[in-house]
Amino acid sequence: MANESGYSFATWTSFIAESQIRALLKYKVDFYFAGGKPGIVPTDTFARIMIDLGEKYQKDPKLALEDLNYGPTGGQPYFLKTLAKRLCEIRGIPIDYETEYESVSVTNGSQQALYALLDTLIDPGDVIITPSPAYLGFLGPAVKLGARVITIPTDLDGIIPEYAEKAVLISKREFGKTPDLLYVVPDSDNPKGTTVPMKRRQALYDICENHNILLLEDAAYAEIQFKKNPKPIKSLDKDNARVAYLGTSSKEAAVLRVGYSVLPTNVRNEVLKDKGYLDLCTASLVQRILNEYYEHHIDDAMRKGIPQYKTRYEAMAKAIDDSFPAGTRTDPTGGFFVWWQSEKEFDSSVFMEKVGIPNDIIYVPGVAFYPISGYSLHEDGNGLEPSRPEVNTMRLGFSYVPPDLITEGIERLGKLLSENL
Ligand SMILES: Cc1ncc(COP(=O)(O)O)c(C=O)c1O
Repeated sequence: MANESGYSFATWTSFIAESQIRALLKYKVDFYFAGGKPGIVPTDTFARIMIDLGEKYQKDPKLALEDLNYGPTGGQPYFLKTLAKRLCEIRGIPIDYETEYESVSVTNGSQQALYALLDTLIDPGDVIITPSPAYLGFLGPAVKLGARVITIPTDLDGIIPEYAEKAVLISKREFGKTPDLLYVVPDSDNPKGTTVPMKRRQALYDICENHNILLLEDAAYAEIQFKKNPKPIKSLDKDNARVAYLGTSSKEAAVLRVGYSVLPTNVRNEVLKDKGYLDLCTASLVQRILNEYYEHHIDDAMRKGIPQYKTRYEAMAKAIDDSFPAGTRTDPTGGFFVWWQSEKEFDSSVFMEKVGIPNDIIYVPGVAFYPISGYSLHEDGNGLEPSRPEVNTMRLGFSYVPPDLITEGIERLGKLLSENL
């Protein structure tokens, strides 16, 4: 397709906009409630790890050369072993970390795993089921690759399995296809912050078993939990055959662009084939740094960090309740986000541009969490309609800003909303 420059860009460039995450990361405002940036990173610990590592490299140039070089596409074996141990012992994922650590893969952020999984599984016209709303970093690539996305209703316990079952049947009826993927963020979802109870986890697993669908469990916030969560859906997958499980160091360690996944073997082989072409491998240096963190520091960091995130959440919840006009918000037990929906109609994108940003406030307008083209399942579960975003919503992130600024910024936003709606 020709454009002004005369170059012929691929078709997707004309209908896929810049990632909202990328677009919002560039803003520097006092009241930053937008992207899922971790505000509590154990910087001292990482500084120490890097100083020690520098000294080690000075004494051992062979090790330095190894770590400053290309490595295996799926990740360094010592790091996979460390991750496998944590996934098994702390998260309850059924892999033997001594012998099966190679079922773990490392990617450049879990974003790359999401992309490579979609790239590996989806041909144009294939069907995917997601909650409504859903993580925009998943929806964007899904639409880009030509998937038909069916979004299904959610409530305060997240995705509703009965609707997932109905969406599968409708997909077969309307498109003559069983969906290839069911995507879910069970622990403190992005964007709603909701957590899926165990009974629903089991039901989702059973649906995927019965219809031979790959269940994509995105556990980005599994470690950032204010109370003990149900076990991952992956814990039900004793044969490592049904669930693709994704984790990330971005939220629980530092944004070194390292994600990790446990994938069924045949899926892993294809995803790594794709990764080989995307980036050859993830940097060995960051794997060395994170290995030290996951082996020796993560428990201490989580013990200190989680209560601070909880305090930030409580400051945000109180300020919303005290100052926002009529509407509803979610009540997350972990993660980084609260979802708010106004009782009155308004467009939160326009409001952010015209009122939020000039007042030093950004959040993510809810529209970003609906596919730009796709289908949503009727509330009665019996038919599909073109996906329609609920524009009177917003995702408010409490992870990045300290509690006093959260109170000040959210109260300021509440006042502006009350004056304008
Ligand atoms: C649900 C979810 N999945 C995946 C990601 C991507 O994380 P990363 O690529 O930093 O590992 C994010 C980031 O915000 C997220 O919220």
